[in-house]
Amino acid sequence: MLTDSLVPDAEADRLADALRTAGYDARGVLDLLGEDATGALARGERVPALRATTGGSPVETLTRLFLLGTTEPAAAVRAAMPVSGLLEADGDGFRAAVDLRPYEDWWVVSDLGTDVRPGPLRPDHVLGVGSASITLSQATLRRPVGTALDLGTGCGVQALHLSRHAGAVTATDVLPRALAMARLTARLNGLDWDLRAGDLLEPVRGERFDLVVSNPPFVVGPGDGGFVYRDSGLAGDEVCRRLIRQAPGVLADGGWCQLLANWVHRDGERWEDRLAGWLDGLGVDAWVWQREVADPAQYAALWLADAGERRSGEYEDRYARWLDWFAAAGVEAIGFGLVTLHRSGAAVPTVRIEEVTQQVEEPVGPHVADWFDRLDAVRDADLAGIRFGRAPDLQLEQVASPGPEGWAVTAQRLRQPHGLRWSATVDPAVAALVAGCDGNRPLGELATVLELAYGIDAGQVQRIVRGLVEQGFLIPH
Ligand SMILES: C[S@@+](CC[C@H](N)C(=O)[O-])C[C@H]1O[C@@H](n2cnc3c(N)ncnc32)[C@H](O)[C@@H]1O
Repeated sequence: MLTDSLVPDAEADRLADALRTAGYDARGVLDLLGEDATGALARGERVPALRATTGGSPVETLTRLFLLGTTEPAAAVRAAMPVSGLLEADGDGFRAAVDLRPYEDWWVVSDLGTDVRPGPLRPDHVLGVGSASITLSQATLRRPVGTALDLGTGCGVQALHLSRHAGAVTATDVLPRALAMARLTARLNGLDWDLRAGDLLEPVRGERFDLVVSNPPFVVGPGDGGFVYRDSGLAGDEVCRRLIRQAPGVLADGGWCQLLANWVHRDGERWEDRLAGWLDGLGVDAWVWQREVADPAQYAALWLADAGERRSGEYEDRYARWLDWFAAAGVEAIGFGLVTLHRSGAAVPTVRIEEVTQQVEEPVGPHVADWFDRLDAVRDADLAGIRFGRAPDLQLEQVASPGPEGWAVTAQRLRQPHGLRWSATVDPAVAALVAGCDGNRPLGELATVLELAYGIDAGQVQRIVRGLVEQGFLIPH
């Protein structure tokens, strides 16, 4: 589908040349500002960066226009960029009408944030690269795939990442304005995406993808918050439920879907049961991580601030209305997490729903992929004939108390210092089992020894080993 761009393609190409010539890239801007001013800018403090960009060179002009939101003299702007479509006149000079910034090896076009244009955002605001964007991009599996879909592409950040390992990228958004920005992002970076307008999976109905990613408008509330990037128009967590229910329908065999989601914790309902209901009968493996939980007051305040609504005269009314809605809906808290679905073809799909609140090693995507691989390796197998080894960096921590015969171990924890950094309390039998997994003996032999020493039968040993393999404490050889 042909999507309007913010500027014609030929102008976009001249703009990319000008950005390149000026050295307006991640390295160039870091060299220009230095570490301190860069750090200050990341904290929302512009002054050090303003002081570092007074020379009038093209890279300074571009940095001031797009990263600092200043109005620059017309002559300096003309020298820095050949395209006026992304600027607006302001007195004798020009200022940016959009955000255009280096990100990794790319440039990304989005709307200006509240840091440079204070006040409530426009309802069709197109978000730039934010912390949720990065969370998803770090969690995404980066194996080579044929086809990938970025649902709710916005500025195109996920599509950029997908372009590195997907043969073809389709990107959708309900907002034509977002698609125009994504199109310019693609063009500036010499990429070509199939951009489609429409609601959720509607634009790709009947198609199949090897990888689907989405950072959807997951914010939970009455459904009428009014900002398209944040509020889906559906009340509560319905947008996430709907996406999860529909996503398997567009997954190719072996395909993956990864999305960020929020869900409510309701009075009288376990959040795990709520998610299990969403995943029931989908026919795909699923791994749900709850990373954080916020109470309703924290949550509403966070998202009101995100859209610049703190400065609005209606702030307190909107805040109160949101809390009223939470109270009426029986919402006690809101969970935030990552959902990964895999059309593995398993006859009985595995569904795991758990808290993953520890600090994980980034990028986390490869560790997610490893988890599914380990699951495949052991799910239907009789483990008795398999040799298992320990994760190479595995540690056992012991807590001991003084007793009549010296120190007596009272608690033991397995700990992985890398990867997902799981830790788990284990009893002496499990500690002995893990110690015995040196890759030399099949599990059946070990199980016989454990049965004699600790009285656990072979079935129990297999169940324990499956859990230890899933979490990566043990590795099938
Ligand atoms: C949180 S932003 C994510 C943008 C970008 N993908 C990222 O990772 O930062 C959500 C995006 O979904 C789009 N969106 C909102 N409602 C949608 C819907 N019903 N169908 C498709 N896209 C939608 C918004 O316009 C916005 O671009």
